[in-house]
Amino acid sequence: MKRQLRHLINRQPWLKKLLKRGLQLILPGRGVSTHYVEMAGNEADSESARLRAAWKDHDLPVRQRELVDKQLTAYRHGEAIDVFDVMVQSLRALPHGAGRMRVLEIGCSSGYYSEVFRIAGLDVDYTGCDYSDAFIDMARQRYPGLPFDVQDATMLRYDDSAYDVVISGCCLLHIPEYQAAVAETARVARRYAIFHRTPVVLGQPNKYYRKQAYGVEAVEIHFNEPQFLALLSDNGLEVLATHTLDETVSHGVGSATRTYVCCRKAA
Ligand SMILES: C[S@@+](CC[C@H](N)C(=O)[O-])C[C@H]1O[C@@H](n2cnc3c(N)ncnc32)[C@H](O)[C@@H]1O
Repeated sequence: MKRQLRHLINRQPWLKKLLKRGLQLILPGRGVSTHYVEMAGNEADSESARLRAAWKDHDLPVRQRELVDKQLTAYRHGEAIDVFDVMVQSLRALPHGAGRMRVLEIGCSSGYYSEVFRIAGLDVDYTGCDYSDAFIDMARQRYPGLPFDVQDATMLRYDDSAYDVVISGCCLLHIPEYQAAVAETARVARRYAIFHRTPVVLGQPNKYYRKQAYGVEAVEIHFNEPQFLALLSDNGLEVLATHTLDETVSHGVGSATRTYVCCRKAA
């Protein structure tokens, strides 16, 4: 019964969002993302800079992993987890020649997408990086056979075109210099770049929030979608597919969370 209910919720993004919002009202101190406060002008700039390193907090990996382990267990039992499904579907759909795809995930946390790919039977060469020592320590403990690096998304130390596919793993929203992070993602991608779980707004400028992520104060940016798409294009990326995880739009104004699958434009 519990499993069927979770399956139903995961198949209906609008229901999932509604339940999440409801839970945040009932249990404001709990959950992944709570206590949203919108910021504007100078406050948005100064708070984004102040909270840039928020995800380096040493309490975060254990808190996040508690939730992730539950999702991985459900996924292993064949349940739909929308964010995992979208990523797996995105990779499966990419035309690729012989050999295994070399995949880099930026903002990999404890490296759990490597496990998602293994469960889904995707045979890829996975590397993960994150700017947090604590997350990378946990990733190395959990997946000792895989390469993980401590690296900042805005100044990667990988060579140009080093990976067939580069996944920007739901980290742009926490990076005030997101333009540099997009440029770096494009630079190290040989063929494809995937911007996973990107929050966007329509009919309104970028929105900046202060929030609690697993109880830690952090910043979250929601990108004006046309400007975000222009940024991808300016960095030589062409969108091949867009997967919408949730969307609320009325008369051209609203918000959505999407995964953008891009390829490098021909030179
Ligand atoms: C919400 S988690 C995403 C985890 C996973 N990739 C996913 O899609 O579920 C965001 C991750 O981005 C990392 N991150 C935030 N800013 C970063 C930066 N400037 N460079 C690299 N990683 C960063 C955080 O440490 C955190 O592990």
